[in-house]
Parts: sequence; C-alpha cells; structure tokens
Amino acid sequence: MCGIIAYIGDKKASPILVDGLKKLEYRGYDSWGLATVDSGKINFVKSVGRIGQNLEMTNLVGTIGMGHTRWATHGGVTDQNAHPHLDCEGKIAVIHNGIIENFAKLKEQLINEGHKFRSETDTEVLSHLIEKYYEGNLKEAVRRALLCVDGTYGIVVISSKEPDRIVAARHGSPLVVGVGEGENYFASDATALMPYTKKVVFIEENEIVEITKDGFYTITIDDKKVDSKIHEIDWEADLAEKKGFNHFMLKEIFEQPKIMENAFAGRIIPSEGIAHLGGLNLTTEELLKVKRIIFIACGTALHAGLVGKYMIEECASIPCEAECASELRYKRILLDKDTLVFVISQSGETADTIAAMREIQRKGIKVLGISNVVGSTIARETDGGVFVHAGPEIGVASTKAFLAQITVLAILALEFGRVRNLSFMEGKEIASEIKKIPEKIKKILEQNDKIKNLAEKYRDYKNFLYLGRRFNYPLALEGALKMKEISYVHAEGYSAGEMKHGAIAMIDEKFPCVFVAPKDSVYDKTISNMQEIKARSGKIIAVTTEDNYEIEKYVDDVIYIPETLEMLEPLLTVIPIQLLAYHMAEIKGLDVDKPRNLAKSVTVE
Ligand code: F6R
Repeated sequence: MCGIIAYIGDKKASPILVDGLKKLEYRGYDSWGLATVDSGKINFVKSVGRIGQNLEMTNLVGTIGMGHTRWATHGGVTDQNAHPHLDCEGKIAVIHNGIIENFAKLKEQLINEGHKFRSETDTEVLSHLIEKYYEGNLKEAVRRALLCVDGTYGIVVISSKEPDRIVAARHGSPLVVGVGEGENYFASDATALMPYTKKVVFIEENEIVEITKDGFYTITIDDKKVDSKIHEIDWEADLAEKKGFNHFMLKEIFEQPKIMENAFAGRIIPSEGIAHLGGLNLTTEELLKVKRIIFIACGTALHAGLVGKYMIEECASIPCEAECASELRYKRILLDKDTLVFVISQSGETADTIAAMREIQRKGIKVLGISNVVGSTIARETDGGVFVHAGPEIGVASTKAFLAQITVLAILALEFGRVRNLSFMEGKEIASEIKKIPEKIKKILEQNDKIKNLAEKYRDYKNFLYLGRRFNYPLALEGALKMKEISYVHAEGYSAGEMKHGAIAMIDEKFPCVFVAPKDSVYDKTISNMQEIKARSGKIIAVTTEDNYEIEKYVDDVIYIPETLEMLEPLLTVIPIQLLAYHMAEIKGLDVDKPRNLAKSVTVE
C-alpha cells in the first residue's frame, strides 16, 4: 500500500527520495509526493500517476526531505489529496500510511478553530493538529497530536521551523529507521534502504522517533525514553533488482530453485528422515500434545495454508483447518489449549491477518508465525515461528514466497509426522525428495517458451476454470487467483470433483479448463472429470506427470512436470500455473508487477 521514505544528511535529498519511492512502487500506489526543507521553507510537489514522470518535478533542493506513495482510501485520486499535507502556514508537512478513524470529528473541530483544509483526506488533520500543538518542539507537538487520534498510522513529519530533524511515529503501520554514517533515514519498508544501509531500527507500536543527521532518539507516546536496538538486515541489494528479466515477477519465478533451498537449508536431515524448525520453540512433548492446527492467512498465503492442511493431515493425522483471516477475526472462535495456531504472511503486515492474530492472542492462545519479512509486525508479535527466507518479493503477485511457504509447511508436516505416525523410511523418503525438488523445478522452468506459446494460443479466452483434487485443489485456487490478479481474465478455482455440482453449467467451447492433475492417487478420478468437460466441448490444458502420454487422448494441451511424492506435488505444479498467468498478462501488455487496484501488502481492513 502507501510507501514512505525520508532522508536527513549532507547529500541532496530528492534523488534519494525518488530512488526510495521507486523501490516502494511495488506496494501499489496511485499518486506520489515529495517535500524538502531548505532556506527556512518547505518545498513540495505532489501528483497523480507514476513517480518521476516529469524529472523537473522531482528536482527539489534541500538535504532533508521525505517522499510518499499514496493508495487512496479517504478522498479520490487527485493531486490535492496526494501527500505531503501541510498546515495552514505551510511550515509543517506530514506524510501518512494508515487510516485516521476519527478524522471527521477532528476536522470539524479544527475548522471551527480556524484551520483551513485543502484536501479530502484523513491525513490532513494531522498537519493541522501538529500545528495546533506546536510550541517550539516538533516531537512534542507530534506526540500531543497523536494522543487525539484513533486509527492506524505510520507518519513522518518535517518542519521549516526545525530544519535539522525529522520526526516519525508508528501505530499499526510499519516504519523503520535506517542508520547511516552522518545521515539517517525512515522508510515504511527496509527494501527502500538497501542501497544505503543495512542497519535498521524497527520502530515499535506507539513509539515516536526523532532523527538528526548524527543520531536517533526514541520515546513512547507517553513520553518515556526507549533504548531502541539496531538490527543488521542480511538481504542482498541485488535481490531487489530485475537482473535482466522483463519483470520482477518472472525473475522471482526463476529464482525459485534457490529460494526453496534457502527455505529448507538446515531444517531437514535426510539420512535420519527428520526435520526441525527451531523457531517454533516446541519440544517433542509439546508437539505430541497438539490435537488441532489452524492456519490463518489471506490470498495466496491462505492457499499455502490449505496445502499445509493436506500435508499435515497426511503425515501426522492431526485435524487442520485453513481459515481466511478476514472471516475468522469476526467470528466466535472455538479454541482450546491443545490447538496450535499459525499465521502465514509474506509481508507480515496484512491488516486482517494481524487482527486475527491479536484476537486469538487475546484469548490466551499461542500464535506462531510463518513469515518472510524480518522485523515485520507478525514476525515480532507472534509467540515464535519461522522465516521462509524468500528474500524481498517485489512483484505484487506472490510467487516465490508461496513456494517458500509450502516448503516450510512440508517440513512442518515432516516434523509433526515423525513424532507420530511416520516411519523412519517414510521420513527419509520425504526429506530426500524435498532436497531433489529444486532440480525438478529447473526442469519445469526450461519449458518457459512452451508455456508462453500456450498463453499465446489461449490469449483471447475470457474465462478459465482451474481444477484439482487433494494436494492440488489449493493449487487450482492459486492458479485462478494468479490468472485473474495479473491478467484480469476471469478465472475460478474448484475442486475437480465439486465442479459437476454447478460450475459445469458454464462450460462450452469458449470456457477452457486448466487441470492440475499429476499421475497420483486421484488421477483416475480426475480423468473422469476431464471427460465430463470434453463432453461439453470444453478445451483442456493439463499439468501432469512426465511420461503420462496417455493423457493426450483427453486434453488439448499438456505441460509435463517431473514425478515426485504426492504430498510434494504442489511444489512443482505451482510453477506452470505461475508461468501461464505471467505470460497471459505479459502478452496482453499489462503492468505485470503492479496490477491495477492491488497493493503488495494490504494494510487496511
Ligand atoms: C496474491 C497476493 C495476495 C497476498 C495476500 C496476503 O498474489 O499476493 O493474495 O497473498 O494479500 O499477503 P501477505 O502474505 O503479505 O499477508
């Protein structure tokens, strides 16, 4: 969603701000803005559209400044509603991520007190509130203003009255301090700071931080001093570059063999047939006590949870559920102490997932996290958990993070399975096969051109039905999500067996189906479903196991994948469905990495 970057030092701020905003573009935005302080005044620019579309616009003087990308919530997509928002005198400027829930009441009060508003946004109340409380100390004015506010925020504030400092505060929207030599930064996402520093301070909930070029100072909203710790980020800067690929999404799809190795490194021992996820902090006794597991997530991460459900039920015979966070947070949650809850989130900042996590923690139940972003809210607020080590995922459509999530879930299934029903030989087979998957993924990636040709062949179809059974049912859901979110082609995911109970009515020669159908225990059943589609003149693309040539009798097109254990099939079937969606969008000339209306991390409800 919205992005924030700020700089204070001796260099010209605007190029650094523009570069930072470009690194945050992937989060999704509809307008942008910059502000600097120089010679006792605030210079600013704000505009609808792409950052730096007009270079002159971004060429602001000053060595202190901040930049913002906006994803509209309150007020339309207009230049005026873009951030920064200034106070009446134009001496205080604010950028903001989040939502000020009581803004209407505050705005009315401020207007009655004589403040002049220029936008329809909730954010603008902050600049006027800070103006109201300003008595010569910007940090204190920010603190007093925030005491009046309900809602969520990550804000950064500059003032021409204090041109040697920048103030930021966090409540619900992530912010980090980037610590440099004679210069310091703020950003909503550490990715934006990668070229400049690897040292960051994760600002905690309800903290206010002031940076100067030589240091930082943290207090709580109740004005208590905090000793913030500096963390080193180990992500390589080049992970955030395209490296010759046309899009980040394609680069991230091709990175997956390596990403998978990172996700299982040090976590499985094939010779002993065991797995261990250290971050869970669970003893064997605690693993044995678990009677039910719930995965909570949204979107692609929810599909990963559904794969995890099938894997754990298969290996460990523990009943599992995968629940959508936005539903779970508002229902009566029936939990007991033997239930283990996991939240799965690439960004670690998804508002619905965080709210569901907090709701469960409120009931005294432990929640563990499976997340990608170190220092994210979910990584910090869960009671333990594991990182999937996928590195920065820039394409809005999640690909490598999904693969890393289901790798971790396969390891989790093995860990639970080995303290329960799985034999030594079964454990050995699963662990050894996990290690072989990256090479098998490489073989599928070699078929990229073939999949591109398929996308070309099907480019004019307006609807697709994705079908799969058991372990590949979640992959049918994920395939349909990938297709619709980046190519804007309508697609639905269904369990292949369920299709005949309704969805089949849509099938005709213009409504193709993608079957995720490796040669496994449910393959014969899936062949029957293919025949049902063929009987209605539906076209079929099948993803199946190599050497299974007999399938060509039933389908129009086939993508072959190497053979693997049934429970690990999703680690391979996901690759062709990602590539098919990518090429469909690419052929249509769409903005693959930044699909319309979407944001990389959805920090609003
Ligand atoms: C789809 C996609 C979204 C996210 C969802 C959850 O490609 O990326 O559906 O999976 O918004 O995001 P995280 O995993 O960051 O919680």
